[in-house]
Amino acid sequence: MRDNDPVNWDGRYGAWHVFRYADVVPVLAEPLIFSSDLSELVPPQPEVELFNRGNFARMDPPRHDKLRRLVSRAFTPRVVADLAPRITAVTQELLDAVAGEPEFDLVTALAYPLPVTVIAELLGVPTSDRALFRTWADALLTQPLPDRMVPDEESMRLRAAPLGDMIDYLLAHIRARRAAPRDDLTSQLIAAEVDGERLVDDEIVGFVGLLLIAGHITTTTLLTNTALSLDEHPDAARDLRADRSLVPSALEEVLRDRAPFPRLARVAMHDAAVGTRTIPAGQILNLWIGSANHDEREFRDAGTFDIRRHPNPHLTFGHGIHFCLGAPLARLEAAIAVPILLDRCTDLVVADGAELFDARVMAGARRLPMAA
Ligand code: HEM
Repeated sequence: MRDNDPVNWDGRYGAWHVFRYADVVPVLAEPLIFSSDLSELVPPQPEVELFNRGNFARMDPPRHDKLRRLVSRAFTPRVVADLAPRITAVTQELLDAVAGEPEFDLVTALAYPLPVTVIAELLGVPTSDRALFRTWADALLTQPLPDRMVPDEESMRLRAAPLGDMIDYLLAHIRARRAAPRDDLTSQLIAAEVDGERLVDDEIVGFVGLLLIAGHITTTTLLTNTALSLDEHPDAARDLRADRSLVPSALEEVLRDRAPFPRLARVAMHDAAVGTRTIPAGQILNLWIGSANHDEREFRDAGTFDIRRHPNPHLTFGHGIHFCLGAPLARLEAAIAVPILLDRCTDLVVADGAELFDARVMAGARRLPMAA
């Protein structure tokens, strides 16, 4: 498709598909022409509407910029860097629990509990509730691709139940922090002001929910994808074990090759050109990050897994104003956890029984047995 029909209208699915790097980037760079707010197109749903009041990933400027500024103030590079000792300690503790086991599920042992513990501690929600957070993340982010781009009322209703549970849980947490602030991100968001304006609880709930869900399941998949890639490419695994300075570039290559979110969605605000096609106002575009990251026009030997690739301008964290706010945290968690995992397990191979997500929705594993 990338060669023959790079901007393609899928009538059955009800959306455009955009496959080339050079076509995806300009769409992401123009948020006023290609909006992230798809709310007008989906059947109205109270839980979704409430959640989206603070979910700035689905907002356009100027509101997006204002809310993002507010979170960025609490979620600074310094805050992230200061987490390194805690990330190391949690990783060690989790791997201690499976030390000596001939086989363990990487998701249960490390890839899920590490990022969820880090983000839960940041937000001040109890890590003991992490099984609950996982059911929400599963329900909201990892369900198989539906038949139609715009969900019908029934699939909206199915998503509404877990979303409603998450909203109730987080509203109770926010109210508790409003009454008795602590040293966590939720309390900082409650206190933060932008242009003299403070957020109300209904807005904070979307913020906190976005950070909680986006802040763990994606990093879980980065860790499982690293294991899958190294298993698939034993030469790369050997080189990485021999030279740990390759870890950052190896992780970028895993991100390029197996983008956790392979697809981003936008809607055209007015008739607009993408490649050689004109997208009519009101129609949805699926931007295939997984395809753009393998576009030979942008990446030399795009089909080769090269842990020394440089530069590596993959689009896995997005591009433009919505560029992933948590990218530094995800990178730090993986850069700490992967070397520890390699040190602890001298032989690390994927065993039988892996369960992968629908790769068109999320690239990663739900279960990944490893023989150590
Ligand atoms: C946005 C991917 C980890 C929080 C995004 C976007 C992508 C992405 C592609 C852009 C969405 C769009 O343009 O529509 C990833 C991947 C991760 C990861 C692949 C891990 C490997 C995290 C973490 C956090 C986080 C750890 C939080 C701590 C966010 C937020 C946004 C976002 C808040 C919205 C930014 C905005 O709209 O301005 N992420 N993410 N992400 N991500 Fe991440």
